[in-house]
Amino acid sequence: MSLSFKHLTSTKQLTRDDTDAILKVSQDMETLLEKKGGDNRLQGKVLASLFYEPSTRTRLSFETAMLRLGGEVVTADGFQFSSLYKGETIEDTIMVVGQYADIICMRHPEGGSADKAASVSPVPFINAGDGPKQHPTQAILDLYTIQKEIGHIDNLHITMVGDLRYGRTVHSLSFLLGLYENVTFTLVSPAELTMPEKVTDFFKEKGISYTESEEMEKALDADIVYMTRVQKERFADQSEYDRLKLKYILTPKHLEGKNCTIMHPLPRVGEIDPAVDSNPRAAYFREVRNGMITRMALLSMLLQAA
Ligand code: CP
Repeated sequence: MSLSFKHLTSTKQLTRDDTDAILKVSQDMETLLEKKGGDNRLQGKVLASLFYEPSTRTRLSFETAMLRLGGEVVTADGFQFSSLYKGETIEDTIMVVGQYADIICMRHPEGGSADKAASVSPVPFINAGDGPKQHPTQAILDLYTIQKEIGHIDNLHITMVGDLRYGRTVHSLSFLLGLYENVTFTLVSPAELTMPEKVTDFFKEKGISYTESEEMEKALDADIVYMTRVQKERFADQSEYDRLKLKYILTPKHLEGKNCTIMHPLPRVGEIDPAVDSNPRAAYFREVRNGMITRMALLSMLLQAA
């Protein structure tokens, strides 16, 4: 199945045909994983996995996805171990890595770094998170999770809680859900961490209904409650981070009598009590596995092997 793009930097690029195709191939990948653990369709292909900012899930799921499809992986992590540290530009780095690998994924702390990389990449490039801006593959795995957990994406009410200003996952997911019918948003955050205008302007342009609130307890009557951590690494003032970091902590008591599915891109740093994990609607660890499945789909589609 084909996609409308060669490089993936933002969920704003995706069409409904793209998401339909990715969800379909992801289902096929999940079946493949259950039956055989993978196959060799990407044999002879190399993924360059460039992580200039910490990651557990995104990096390991991209790399595992490539290995499960018979491909190979080369990695670079941390500025200090790459020539970016010597002053090489992102563009030069990508032009070099594109001579070695068949596909590149990159996480970088600078918002807009993914666009710079994609503008010169000779091979398909995937944004694995660029600063506070976008994390499109997280949004794709979230979409697949919603489809699996709820059974539909249209007519969805989603409450997003936490650091909506710096949390790139909620930006990417908001744009992606804009492709679906009658999705409504409740946005819960401290006044200092509200959703940026680039997202609320998008809601207004598309006629998407949203409300903003500082109170989590009144916002839990939704199909999905999407918790996020406060993004410590984006704060210049650590005392401001300490003041805001645990304003919202979801506990089993909050969920009494509620029907919402609970999602979180992870890592969590206290905003979901581990006692919630045994709630059958706590989907965040299933969400993690969906990350590998959807990245198997994306890698194989961008490399014309699905
Ligand atoms: N959800 C996510 O991006 O996790 P990592 O930072 O561990 O990759």
